[in-house]
Parts: sequence; structure tokens; C-alpha cells
Amino acid sequence: MEDRVTRVIAVSNQKGGVAKTTTALTVASQLAKLGQSVLAIDLDPQGNMTLGLGVTPKPGDLTIYDTLVDDRPLEAAWVSTPHEKLSTLKLVPANRKLARAERELYGQVGFDAILKEKIEEVEPFDWVVLDCPPSLGVLTMNALVASNRVLVPVQCEFFSISGLASLLDLVKVVQKRRNPGLSLSVLPTLYDRRNGICRGVLKELKSRFSKQLSGVVIDVDTRLREAAAKGRPISLFAPRSRASKQYGNLTKELMSHGEG
Ligand SMILES: Nc1ncnc2c1ncn2[C@@H]1O[C@H](COP(=O)(O)OP(=O)(O)OP(=O)(O)O)[C@@H](O)[C@H]1O
Ligand SMILES: [Mg+2]
Repeated sequence: MEDRVTRVIAVSNQKGGVAKTTTALTVASQLAKLGQSVLAIDLDPQGNMTLGLGVTPKPGDLTIYDTLVDDRPLEAAWVSTPHEKLSTLKLVPANRKLARAERELYGQVGFDAILKEKIEEVEPFDWVVLDCPPSLGVLTMNALVASNRVLVPVQCEFFSISGLASLLDLVKVVQKRRNPGLSLSVLPTLYDRRNGICRGVLKELKSRFSKQLSGVVIDVDTRLREAAAKGRPISLFAPRSRASKQYGNLTKELMSHGEG
């Protein structure tokens, strides 16, 4: 048996449009570009991570739904991306059908631990990166139970911090009852340094989350939007862009956790 340890990261925030998917797919592809073996799992019925990595599931292709609801192994559903440089990256795609999983799984015995079991069943990857939907339901609970770390992107905008309360409460309950090893990181995103409200939010994040705040701040960078539209991660689309460098620093920070 291999004794490689898989590090599982959930990217979660119930607020929509805060850069969860951008963060998840960028970190997953940067880890892969560094030669790490990575399993990216799309847990959002919107399927944005799937499309953002350039994958379009065909009718009949297995998705994460088949793993969670129909007990299919992850390796039956995972696919390679079209990007040659990301040969160590596998993706378990999602599509709209996944929305049904919320009610189909809810209330089953151990419904929040299915993903964890499925990840433990396969040959270990160096990393598993989970893109959560903008809600705190069954899919997000499965992600939190399966993870070593939850990475919470927070848009530098008024109301962003108050909106975090229910997620932080859920993380605390999961830590207490289901997964004591779950760590939390907060990542400021969509930061506009010319905007006073942005600067104020960042200051408040620093005082509220001193220990858990990432040392990296992700600025607004329109190249991220262009990259998503092209189905190419920023590290391939515009490797010299500010966003690519900032996400590179985040990737290094995640890799350094738990060392030394
Ligand atoms: N740093 C950034 N600068 C500019 N645009 C960005 C940045 N980060 C993300 N975006 C864009 O903002 C939009 C929302 O990002 P994304 O889809 O990653 O958010 P999300 O939190 O996953 O949304 P949802 O809650 O719908 O899943 C996308 O169009 C994305 O390309
Ligand atoms: Mg998303």
C-alpha cells in the first residue's frame, strides 16, 4: 500500500460570484502544472469548473452525480482535460442533474460522508480540490466532511463579511461533530486597490481573521474572465498576468501548510 497522504481542499462560500470556481480550478491546474497529481471535483450543478477546464460532458457521460447517488467509483467518472500541460490533472465533471442529489441524499444514513468514502476508495492523489455550489446543503456538507482545509474566497465588498456567519457556523459544527481536522483559510478576492470600500473590507478581514487570513490577495483582473470563457486556466491562458502570479503564490502557500 502507498502511504501518500491526499490533501483535500474545499473552496466554499454560500454567496454567489465570489470567485470560488476561479480559485478552485486555478489552484488545481497550478498544482498540476507543478507535477502534483490532482483530482478536481465539480460539486456545483452549474458545472462552471467543468466548463472552465475546457470539458463538456456528453449525454451519457458519468458525473459526480453518479458517484454520490448511484455509488459509482470516482474513477469511472473522472476525465482528463484537453490541456496537455495538465496531464496529472483529472476532473470529475458536474452538470444540472446534480441539483437532484440534494434531496435524493438528504436524510440517508451517513449522507454527509459519501464523498469522503469515495475519495478514500481510489488510489491517493497528492491533492483533491472541490468546487462547492453557492449554498450550504448536502453537497457542501459532503465537501466539508471530506476536506483537510476549507478555503473561503471573500469578495472585498460591503456585506461580504456579515454574509460569512452561517458558513463559519457550519464549519464549526463540522469541526466539532464530523471532522476535527478541518482547517479554515480566508482568501480576499476581486480586490480593487483604488476602491475605498475594498480597502476597508480587507482591513476588517485582517482584524477578524488574523490567523486564518491568507497572505495572498487576489486583485480584480479581467484576464480571469477571458480565461474562463475560453475554457483555459489562467496559468495557461496568461501565465504572466497578475492573477496568475497571485494564484501562484496562493498555491505555494497551500503547499506549505502542514510543513515545518
Ligand atoms: N479576480 C478576478 N477578477 C476579475 N474577474 C474575476 C475574478 N475572479 C473571478 N472573476 C469572474 O467573476 C465571475 C464569478 O467568478 P466565479 O464563477 O469564480 O465565482 P463563484 O463564486 O464560483 O460563483 P458561483 O457562486 O456562481 O459558483 C466569473 O465571471 C469570473 O471569471
Ligand atoms: Mg462557482
